[in-house]
Amino acid sequence: MLIARSIADLRQALAPYRHPAFVPTMGNLHDGHIALMRLAKPLGDVTVASIFVNRLQFLPHEDFDSYPRTWEADCAQLQAVGCDLLFAPREADLYPQPQTVKLHPDPALADRLEGQFRPGFFVGVGTVVLKLFACVLGKTGGTAVFGKKDYQQLMVIRQMVQQLALPIEIVAGETCRAADGLALSSRNGFLSLAERQEAVALPLALQQLARRWREARNPGPALEQQALDALRARGWQPDYLTVCRRADLQPATAQDAPGTLVALGAARLATTRLIDNLEF
Ligand code: PAF
Repeated sequence: MLIARSIADLRQALAPYRHPAFVPTMGNLHDGHIALMRLAKPLGDVTVASIFVNRLQFLPHEDFDSYPRTWEADCAQLQAVGCDLLFAPREADLYPQPQTVKLHPDPALADRLEGQFRPGFFVGVGTVVLKLFACVLGKTGGTAVFGKKDYQQLMVIRQMVQQLALPIEIVAGETCRAADGLALSSRNGFLSLAERQEAVALPLALQQLARRWREARNPGPALEQQALDALRARGWQPDYLTVCRRADLQPATAQDAPGTLVALGAARLATTRLIDNLEF
């Protein structure tokens, strides 16, 4: 596996290829990332991963400084899964000057859910992903793979690619889960043993919300409120537990058909904020 630290080195390494398959990450890789790499592998003539902890997508009080950085282990895993090229720019390479040109995703999609509770998050994500796309896929186009775990992020990126006519195909990978059903996430590492056992209450709450929504004669916000109250009663601080239309992530109504919906949740357990979702 080649490692490119600068944009110039990356472009040189990519010169012989016509269709890179790209998996952007912030490192601290787990089986979910590795599954995305496996998905990417047959989709291009070179498999590229990036590791860059993007300051722009963290709010000032968030965990940018403590975000886990596990360089050696990440490289070993990428090597083992057959990654050809790792782009790991230093901050000064990707943001040599303050990034004043930014991507502002459609507020109708990006200012709700994660965007409501983490204002500016999708400006940071959109800006870095567009810049990573320019670096890795800018010359040839190609394929980029994102996980459904970050459902809204996936939709924001799809919309960006579509509306800016970028020559990039976006492929979605299913969420990888631990044996008890907790979605794999870099932030799971922040949980104590007791919190880790409790953490499965989030996917269970989404399953219950989806089941009740399917079974109700007139499903609506009261079911979401019940789900929020139940998590609060267990000591969580939920930001949202809600049912949306998959097509545009707008609130679902009783008229929306099952099979077109997604339940999404974000909640803090002690100091760790977890997100998850369930299509139904
Ligand atoms: O999902 C992530 O890890 C990040 O948001 C991404 C897409 C790599 C952008 O920093």
